[in-house]
Amino acid sequence: MKEVIDFRVLKIEHFESEDYLLDITPVGKSLLACKPGQFVNILIEDSPTTFLRRPISIGDIDEQKNTMSLYIKQVGGGTRKLATLKKNDIVNIIYPLGNGFTSQDIQSPLLVGGGTGMAPMLYLCKHFNKLNIKPHVLLGGRTKAALSFGKCFSDIAHLHITTEDGSLGEKGVVTSHSIFQEISTFDRVYTCGPSAMMKAVAQKAEAARIPCEVSLENTMACGFGVCLCCVTSTTTGNRCVCTEGPVFLSTELTEF
Ligand SMILES: Cc1cc2nc3c(=O)[nH]c(=O)nc-3n(C[C@H](O)[C@H](O)[C@H](O)COP(=O)(O)OP(=O)(O)OC[C@H]3O[C@@H](n4cnc5c(N)ncnc54)[C@H](O)[C@@H]3O)c2cc1C
Ligand code: FES
Repeated sequence: MKEVIDFRVLKIEHFESEDYLLDITPVGKSLLACKPGQFVNILIEDSPTTFLRRPISIGDIDEQKNTMSLYIKQVGGGTRKLATLKKNDIVNIIYPLGNGFTSQDIQSPLLVGGGTGMAPMLYLCKHFNKLNIKPHVLLGGRTKAALSFGKCFSDIAHLHITTEDGSLGEKGVVTSHSIFQEISTFDRVYTCGPSAMMKAVAQKAEAARIPCEVSLENTMACGFGVCLCCVTSTTTGNRCVCTEGPVFLSTELTEF
């Protein structure tokens, strides 16, 4: 079930690197059930330049408080406009969209996130916590400032970090992290982030014969399978990332 509904802004936390965490609650309703890896499509109100909704991953859900968190990076008009939201402002959202990650029968997951791809990893990590699993989470960024969001994982995961300048964690990119020496101890790898990062992570997982779920961030418009602007090439033909994804097994994707 999906719905188009107004959410009220509860809080917006701005980080050093101009990304921000937006906490919202549906006005007068309870949140619908959402899966880790699903996303919302947000209307950008009062914008002369941004007409289409913008897709953003569900970063976290607190069912008891009836709140959703979105972690957003400012890259253009839409995400910059959303950064100006204040407490009690209203945003219109279509959700939940997409398929989400699978987690059944997984005992030892490795979650790898870069950039805004860290957001779906937070909700996935909390989902595993509910299954009494404390996952290993590997986050990568250019600098320490790009990893402010990483603090959300400190108590809920075995956290590993890489930065390209060495300002936090191991110096390098995620696939150079020493955790990959132990990759055979994991039974599934999950990744979201820049395309080159996800391809490199998927190659490592495939080489170790471990299934890898990747969450694509293709450019989208409608978000529910009508405009066909988000298709990706798979071993079974072109598929809509917004309805049949954004999560695919890496082995299904021809470009991986
Ligand atoms: C399923 C899904 C989940 C996503 N989750 C998040 C999230 O949790 N947090 C977040 O900050 N962003 C997320 N994104 C990306 C986000 O949707 C785009 O950054 C946003 O739409 C850009 O809108 P804009 O108006 O600010 O920028 P625009 O003015 O539209 O574009 C500015 C620049 O960003 C680039 N860009 C636009 N869309 C994308 C995209 N999808 N991926 C990469 N680059 C893009 C453009 O090519 C351009 O260079 C997600 C995208 C998808 C498809
Ligand atoms: S975004 Fe319109 S079909 Fe996927």
